[in-house]
Amino acid sequence: MSKSVPEPWRIKMIEPIRMTTKAQRKKALIEAGLNPFILKSEDVFIDLLTDSGTGAMSDRQWANILLGDESYAGSKSYYQLSQAVNEIFDFQYTIPVHQGRGAEQILFPVLVELAKEKGASDPVFLSNHHFDTTKAHVELAGARANNFICSSSLQTEIADDWKGNFDLNELSNEIKNNLKNIVAIIITVTCNSVGGQPVSMDNIRSAARMARDAGIPVIIDAARFAENAYFIKQRDHAFFHETIPNIVKEMFSEADIFTMSAKKDGMVNIGGLCCFRNNESLFKQVQLRCVPMEGFVTYGGLAGRDMAAMAVGLQEALEEDHLHSRITQVEYLGHKLQQAGIPIQTPVGGHAVFVDARKIFPDIKPENFPAQVLCNALYLESGVRATEIGSLMMGRNPITGQQEPALFELMRLTIPRRTYTDNHMNYVADSLIEVVKKADTLKPLEFEYESKILRQFTARFREIER
Ligand SMILES: Cc1ncc(COP(=O)(O)O)c(C=O)c1O
Repeated sequence: MSKSVPEPWRIKMIEPIRMTTKAQRKKALIEAGLNPFILKSEDVFIDLLTDSGTGAMSDRQWANILLGDESYAGSKSYYQLSQAVNEIFDFQYTIPVHQGRGAEQILFPVLVELAKEKGASDPVFLSNHHFDTTKAHVELAGARANNFICSSSLQTEIADDWKGNFDLNELSNEIKNNLKNIVAIIITVTCNSVGGQPVSMDNIRSAARMARDAGIPVIIDAARFAENAYFIKQRDHAFFHETIPNIVKEMFSEADIFTMSAKKDGMVNIGGLCCFRNNESLFKQVQLRCVPMEGFVTYGGLAGRDMAAMAVGLQEALEEDHLHSRITQVEYLGHKLQQAGIPIQTPVGGHAVFVDARKIFPDIKPENFPAQVLCNALYLESGVRATEIGSLMMGRNPITGQQEPALFELMRLTIPRRTYTDNHMNYVADSLIEVVKKADTLKPLEFEYESKILRQFTARFREIER
């Protein structure tokens, strides 16, 4: 048996969490319209809704918060942040934004306009897989979002090391057949929508080179850049002896632009980035949109102290002992579930364990949201909050308005960074094992209320008979 490696930190401050009774949880879930997104956090015991902005900051980050410069323009903290970006990614131009979608909303319309000026009549972004807000912002900018994820990612039982990869043949065909309409390619690292799965260095290089040869801009959606780099070091023998900072530099050397939700690997509770390698003219056009949408160009919707925390967080994200401890904890939960025969996306992803609800409820139709059924049952059983990544999140076809089946019906157990212990993971696993034993008794869902976009956040449901 390999020797266990403990967390590379000790706890200096604690936040109490409250266990509720089953009756309290039932009442809370009914009031929330059977949608865990609408629950009050005080009614949740262990919150695995997301790893976004939910992690614990370090003493170094808190110390730098006190040094934050709150000047409206030209804040010292902005220059500290852009220096960190320059050192880590080798990118010259930094726009801070309030979070990842802030970058999407200021960047995509500019890129769509540029593509139209060059003759695009049906603008489209190509990605291994667009995250849901990314797809929403592509569509709000008047373009379409097409995914080119490799086929192994769709089979949760196949343990492929690189399930975040592009299907390069399909990508290449699309570039050949539809070049004039392509706005950009977006490489999402790791790929959240297929289970926090990494993209290999070879695949990043090949996709980026194909795009570059065709004159298409390459964007990295960098929310989980450090976790992707860690997987490359673990799984690609060409990088076994390379440092994480060097792997990150190499990944980003393939991109022209990156957007980042810094609430993940950036280790902050709020913040994001929109950065440009060297295209000063594009940077300036996007800056112009930043002012009315996010705020002045040296704060972009953030306080000086938020930028100060991010400058330190980006550096801490690269620490290998942190990455090892984080990814091992997610694996620990995944392996416990696997040992109990619960079907999950394999191998276990970087930030979350994705449970395959389609396999648990083969008879519940996508439009009756099997993964949402599972999330609700887990909450009722234990007070653990998870989230649906499936037909509910995917939304309707924007052209036909029809509900189409998503590629997956997954329940995501998302682990915040540096926040919970393995004992919390044991409780989550034990609770889910109990729920799955009762799978036959759980009821499908239908909408009581559905909003037009990003409906998963506000939808309300009722149960129907099976
Ligand atoms: C891959 C990816 N891209 C973009 C976003 C959007 O970032 P934010 O929630 O900070 O707006 C997320 C958020 O979860 C994400 O996982």
